Amino acid sequence: MESTYRAAIVGAGRKAGPIDDERMPGDRAWLKPWGHASAYQATPGCRLVAVADVNEDKLASFGERYGVPVSARYTDYREMIDRERPDLLSVATWAPLHAEVTCYAAEHGVKAIYCEKALACSMDEADRMLEACRRNGVAFDYGAGRRYRPGYRMMRRLAEEGQLGRVLQYIFNGGAGALMHSLSHAVDTALFLLGDPEPAFVQATIIAGEYDAAANRWDRDPHVAQAYIHFQDGTGAHLCANGARWYTFSLVGTTGLAMAYDNNSAYALRRLVDPQTFRSEEVPFPPFEDESDTLVAIRELITAIENGTPEATRGPMTAAHRGMELLCAMAQSHLQNGARVRLPLENRAMYIPSR
Ligand SMILES: NC(=O)c1ccc[n+]([C@@H]2O[C@H](COP(=O)([O-])OP(=O)(O)OC[C@H]3O[C@@H](n4cnc5c(N)ncnc54)[C@H](O)[C@@H]3O)[C@@H](O)[C@H]2O)c1
Repeated sequence: MESTYRAAIVGAGRKAGPIDDERMPGDRAWLKPWGHASAYQATPGCRLVAVADVNEDKLASFGERYGVPVSARYTDYREMIDRERPDLLSVATWAPLHAEVTCYAAEHGVKAIYCEKALACSMDEADRMLEACRRNGVAFDYGAGRRYRPGYRMMRRLAEEGQLGRVLQYIFNGGAGALMHSLSHAVDTALFLLGDPEPAFVQATIIAGEYDAAANRWDRDPHVAQAYIHFQDGTGAHLCANGARWYTFSLVGTTGLAMAYDNNSAYALRRLVDPQTFRSEEVPFPPFEDESDTLVAIRELITAIENGTPEATRGPMTAAHRGMELLCAMAQSHLQNGARVRLPLENRAMYIPSR
């Protein structure tokens, strides 16, 4: 790769880089370089040129650690974008800031945006992000990382090749059920594994969190016990969020079941041997080369810039926007005693705070 792409980061916190220190030896749930800074540094043809954070201490330590010169450390992300003209921008702040930073970047020359989950705090915000990226031809990858992990791509390939028979459903069984913060991952993975189908309706049960109807706002990121998404192609996604430390993602077909378990660390494949007796057997999961999701996402953003195909990323804004609408639909279903909620949502201003 000959060109050098200029990358910058807004938010010098954990996910921007130091989250790499949290990976324990032998833990394969997430692979290094997991943080944005180290992944940019590991990407050929890419250079981390600037960082912005309102916290000057964090800015200084982050700049030192990742070799960003003092002159390229900013407390105002707008000034950073205007002066440094980055090609790629990571939005690694909290969800309430994702829309404003993404829209500003899209409207001020950034070619590719890598935005962390949750996408935003309301559909109004998500709509503005979608529109800003579309209007300005900006490539987008979403921080819900399983789309970029080779194991999940193999699961999707098994489905596409018909090796699971006719795909019936996706089942997530996991711990933390914070709607925006955690289930943003599980919903995005559902969309990816099922081939980004059109949703038909959503139902959900929330077990913690209060909604203020007058303010059209939740008091916190609500906790979900279970949710169901029914798609127009007849498939379904079941999200069971009371699974404590279990973290499994299953794709179930008429003749095969592919599963990622131990939170992305391992994969399994079972085939139905005798439908009469329900007997199945474990068969080898096809081999694949595992790789950091952050690295793959950045590489694919660069490819999108080089090819002039901003819409052709594997974690596009359209999918992130759809996932966000499904999460908001879950909150609205709960408010209607678990009724079926269809998209597009009418209440696009409902605000759900999240980190
Ligand atoms: N994809 C994943 O698996 C994953 C993992 C962890 C975190 N995240 C996401 O990454 C985002 C950041 O999370 P974190 O854990 O790194 O949080 P963090 O608190 O460690 O970092 C956020 C940083 O943003 C900075 N900030 C606040 N306002 C700002 C502004 N106006 N301009 C610039 N910087 C500003 C804060 O000072 C802080 O340093 C969240 O959206 C979170 O959900 C994703």
